[in-house]
Amino acid sequence: MLARSNHLRNLGKTISFVPTMGYLHEGHLSLMRLAKSMADLLVVSIFVNPTQFGPAEDLSTYPRNFERDQSLCRNEGVDILFYPTAAEMYGPRFQTFITLEQLPHHLCGISRPVFFKGVATVVTKLFHIVKPHTAVFGQKDYQQVRIIQQMVEDMDMDIQITSGPTVRETDGLAMSSRNAYLSASQRPSALTLYQAICQTKNFLESGLTDAKILIQKAANLILSFPDTSIDYIAICDPDSLEDMQTIDRPAVMALAVKVGKTRLIDNMMLSPR
Ligand code: PAF
Repeated sequence: MLARSNHLRNLGKTISFVPTMGYLHEGHLSLMRLAKSMADLLVVSIFVNPTQFGPAEDLSTYPRNFERDQSLCRNEGVDILFYPTAAEMYGPRFQTFITLEQLPHHLCGISRPVFFKGVATVVTKLFHIVKPHTAVFGQKDYQQVRIIQQMVEDMDMDIQITSGPTVRETDGLAMSSRNAYLSASQRPSALTLYQAICQTKNFLESGLTDAKILIQKAANLILSFPDTSIDYIAICDPDSLEDMQTIDRPAVMALAVKVGKTRLIDNMMLSPR
């Protein structure tokens, strides 16, 4: 891959990149379409990155279907599909990790303490191998996008980071590879993430701006459905991810909820009236 990236760059070609962990869905495909419009060639990676999973998380059961992914990539006109093995990415001598000081200490980083260290490290490695001019990430992982943007800025990486909008099922559920874990009976509970965000937007429209009250109302809604447990519900500053008390300027509402054993996340920008 590195040799091909160097070759393409020497030919003066621009490269856009969409890193994924596979089990592709319409959300990934929309990122690929966006990325394809931004450069001469589109590279997609599929790599279920072990360093971003905690010991009690779903690394071994993470859904995989390489043949299907490969054919979806072909249909989207992906020029190069890069799918390294874990042994290729992390040799026995591997010992260098990328960590950020502040952004990972919010939202998902609290219950997943190794997650963003793994993400920042693997994305750095992928950037060095693929050498993209531009890379596209999904807005559904809002904190991840912020972390990548910050890392690129701090480390002077000459890569343009773009985020693509969250793609939703017709009922509003944000698309995610982990939705495959949900049973039909868990689906209404999974939908409460989106419903809680919509409810918050409506309360905000009617003039309620106290974040604590809005979060409590969202929690009440989610917990009224079976099989749900809340990891976090936050209303935070879009840049620093620090909690906000009053929504008197644009904010992000982000939440992580477990439905049975499946951990789902969602987020949306909120604007005061
Ligand atoms: O969002 C994902 O699928 C992963 O976190 C990423 C960015 C591909 C890194 O492994």
